[in-house]
Formats: sequence, structure tokens, C-alpha cells
Amino acid sequence: MALLNRILPHKDADGLHPVNLGRLVRGEPGLQSCTPAGVMRLLKAYQLDPNGKSAVVVGRSILVGKPLALMLLAADATVTIAHSRTPDLTAIAHKADILVAAVGRPGLITANMVKPGAIVIDVGINRISQSTGDRLVGDVDFDAVQPVAEWITPVPGGIGPMTVAMLLQNTIESYCQRFT
Ligand SMILES: NC(=O)c1ccc[n+]([C@@H]2O[C@H](COP(=O)([O-])OP(=O)(O)OC[C@H]3O[C@@H](n4cnc5c(N)ncnc54)[C@H](OP(=O)(O)O)[C@@H]3O)[C@@H](O)[C@H]2O)c1
Repeated sequence: MALLNRILPHKDADGLHPVNLGRLVRGEPGLQSCTPAGVMRLLKAYQLDPNGKSAVVVGRSILVGKPLALMLLAADATVTIAHSRTPDLTAIAHKADILVAAVGRPGLITANMVKPGAIVIDVGINRISQSTGDRLVGDVDFDAVQPVAEWITPVPGGIGPMTVAMLLQNTIESYCQRFT
């Protein structure tokens, strides 16, 4: 945190400086956290408007869960944040039109937790070891959830590349703020 505070807010390409997080809370323009911004960009690209939808974000980190909840709120979703102390996650997740898993626990989100037709965004990245070698999986049991959800992001190849794209966008925006 001490290091983060030393970064100039206009050079904060990760969008995690308190000034930029404060701007997000206030609904003001600023550099935004890359992973949640990537989720919002993906929803926009597929014309999945959060307006009027029930969104459940599982995970409340400063890196993903909290800023994403604020972004979904700004997009007029009705937002619930769940975390490790949330009782009956299944019942809460099942109400979601947009269900986001940002936890770091492989297989946490199972098919019975997903409302039929929901949009499921898997932010988690977990390395698991198998006899055939290591592989990356998300927090969502992809094979079981895919038939229930209308939309689902894979891991790898889903939100990870969106995060990288948003980092590049923030870097360019940061340059433009400083030099134009
Ligand atoms: N795709 C990408 O580009 C990208 C970018 C960043 C992170 N990630 C991945 O996203 C995941 C989350 O990252 P993070 O930095 O946000 O992790 P984090 O700081 O460890 O936060 C994890 C969150 O999950 C919650 N949680 C833990 N166990 C839970 C459970 N059983 N049920 C419900 N909630 C639970 C925690 O609750 P408490 O607050 O109560 O402890 C915490 O809020 C990781 O797998 C990470 O690798 C991916």
C-alpha cells in the first residue's frame, strides 16, 4: 500500500491508487482497475447490458470484487457482494442474472448455484496439478455450468486477456492525460 501511494494517480495504469478508487466510488472519470474494467468491456462487447439485472459478485478484494461491484452499480445493476463469511452462497448466487466469481477456489461455483440463462463471468485463475501436468482453471465448474448459463467465460482465454487489454488501454490513457 505504501508503494501504491507513491505512484502518481495519472500514471496508475493498474487503477488501484486511492485517488482512482475514490474517483470510481464518486462516479468520476479516472484510471480503472483492469480486471473489473475488462469484465465491463466484455459485457458491452456482447451487448449484455447490466441495467435492471441482478448481479452477484463473489469476492470482495480491492483488486477485483469491490471495484467490479461499483462498476456494475454504475451500470444500473442491483448488486450483491458475497464473500467467505456469506451464509448460503448457493441461494444468493442462484438469484443472479450476472454471476461473477472472483475468489481463487477451483470448482466453487457449481451448476446448482446458477440461475438458468444467467451470464457467468469467471475471473478466478487457479493452477491445479494433474497426472498429465499442471493446468489453469477458474472458480466455475465450467463443464457443469455451461449447459445452465446462457453466457459463460472460459479460463484460460476469458477475463485474463481482457485484463491485459485494459492495462494497455490504461497505459495509453495515462500517456494521453499527461502529454496531450
Ligand atoms: N483474470 C484475471 O485477469 C485476474 C485478475 C486478478 C485476479 N484473478 C484471480 O481472481 C481470483 C481472485 O483474486 P483476488 O485478488 O480478488 O483474491 P483475494 O484478494 O484472495 O480475494 C478473494 C475473495 O474471495 C472470497 N472468498 C474466499 N473463499 C470464499 C468462499 N468459499 N466463498 C465465497 N467467497 C470466498 C474472499 O472473502 P473474504 O474477503 O471474506 O476473505 C475474498 O473476498 C484469483 O483466482 C486470482 O488469481 C484473475
